[in-house]
Order: sequence, then structure tokens, then C-alpha cells
Amino acid sequence: MTNARGTPPPTTPPPPGPSLGALIRSRRAVRRFKPGLVPDADVNEILEAGRWAPSPANRQPTRFIWVKSTGVKRELQQLARESKELSGYWDPIFRPDGSSGLVNDLETPEVIAVIADPSKSLSNVHADNGFEWAAAMAIYAMWLRAYSLGYGAVFVQHWIAEKAKKILNVPLSWTFLGTFTFGHAAEAPTTDRLPLDQLVSIDRYPGRPRP
Ligand SMILES: Cc1cc2nc3c(=O)[nH]c(=O)nc-3n(C[C@H](O)[C@H](O)[C@H](O)COP(=O)(O)O)c2cc1C
Repeated sequence: MTNARGTPPPTTPPPPGPSLGALIRSRRAVRRFKPGLVPDADVNEILEAGRWAPSPANRQPTRFIWVKSTGVKRELQQLARESKELSGYWDPIFRPDGSSGLVNDLETPEVIAVIADPSKSLSNVHADNGFEWAAAMAIYAMWLRAYSLGYGAVFVQHWIAEKAKKILNVPLSWTFLGTFTFGHAAEAPTTDRLPLDQLVSIDRYPGRPRP
């Protein structure tokens, strides 16, 4: 069986390799980009990673908007600035001199907006937002794939969502998760993580120490 673009769905997992762990550990959020071509084939390969992400009952609620137009990118750039300014009204970390004051670059890198359709949700007993979880998994899959192809990337959730939906003509009832941007990295950030001892509980929270 092949899909519309002729790519056969994989039926057997690839052999395990040592590289995925190293990839996961060394991926970082890259926010500064150098200009430079990203071939369409690479963008499509990254979109493939999003396509193959899991979703509840395989309902596949996630859609991707590949923003190619410089005009639309410019509109998003203005909105990114406005979104940060609005947040900065309440939280100083988003002001220009704050620790998260950088306005994300929407013009230099490739931009993929990620949206999710709530009608492709399940009717769990609890309020189901699996469609948003699925989209989040697609974002991380694209992030890792972009990094594995040599690109720096960051997911940006910091949007006045309704205005972003209007720019991109997204139905109001859908969730706009944000934008995934990737391109040629102009920085190599070195963030760290809490040690597993502070993250993992055995049996119950906070539980016994991890062996
Ligand atoms: C759900 C989510 C939303 C994020 N939103 C933003 C954002 O709006 N702007 C931004 O610059 N980075 C954003 N990031 C990137 C995080 O700031 C970054 O992943 C975190 O600081 C850890 O850094 P690292 O990925 O380099 O290890 C987001 C990450 C996640 C998972």
C-alpha cells in the first residue's frame, strides 16, 4: 500500500541505534537564525515526522500550515511583537529587557503553524483534549527531525491566538497551538535539566528514592 505521494507506510521498526538518545539530549531551542535556503525536500521530510505522530484512535486532528509567503510571515512577525508586548504588561520577563524579552524571528526561518481540529476528539468521560496532545506530539517529532537534519528550531506558543487564527484563516473553534520555526542556527544554547532524581518517583508521589 502506498499513500497519495507514493511513500509506503513503514511496517517494521527501524533497527535500534545509539543516535536517538544523543539527539534527544542535545536538541535545544534555537531562536536566532542565519538566512539560507532550506530545501523543500527537507521541509517535507520534517512535515512527514509530524504526519506520523500518534493521535487518539488515530483520528489525526493536526493540520500544518506551511507559511511560505513573505507577506504572511511579516504579519506574523508583527503579531509576535504585539503578543510579547501584551504579555509584558503583566509579566516583566516578557519586556524587552526581561529574560524572555526576545521577540521570536518569524521571517528568517521556515514557519509551520500547527492547528488542531476539536471535532476529531474522542468522547472520553473527562473533558477530552487529546486532539491538542496529538498536535504537541507532532511538534516534538518535527523538532527532533529538523534537528536530525542539521537545523536549529523552536516552537513558539506565545501568540494572541485569535489574531493568529485570523491571519492564517483558521476556524475560530480550532486550537492554534503555535508556530514551529526552523532554519540555519545562529546560536547554540546550553540549557540544562533537573536530574532524574528530582523528576522520578517510585510507586507513588513523591515515593521512595529512585534506585
Ligand atoms: C509548549 C512550549 C512552548 C514554547 N513556547 C516558546 C515561545 O513562545 N517562545 C520561545 O522562544 N520558546 C518557546 N519554547 C521553547 C522553550 O522555551 C524551551 O524549550 C525551553 O526553555 C528549554 O530549552 P531547550 O529546549 O533549549 O532545552 C516553548 C517550548 C514548549 C515545549
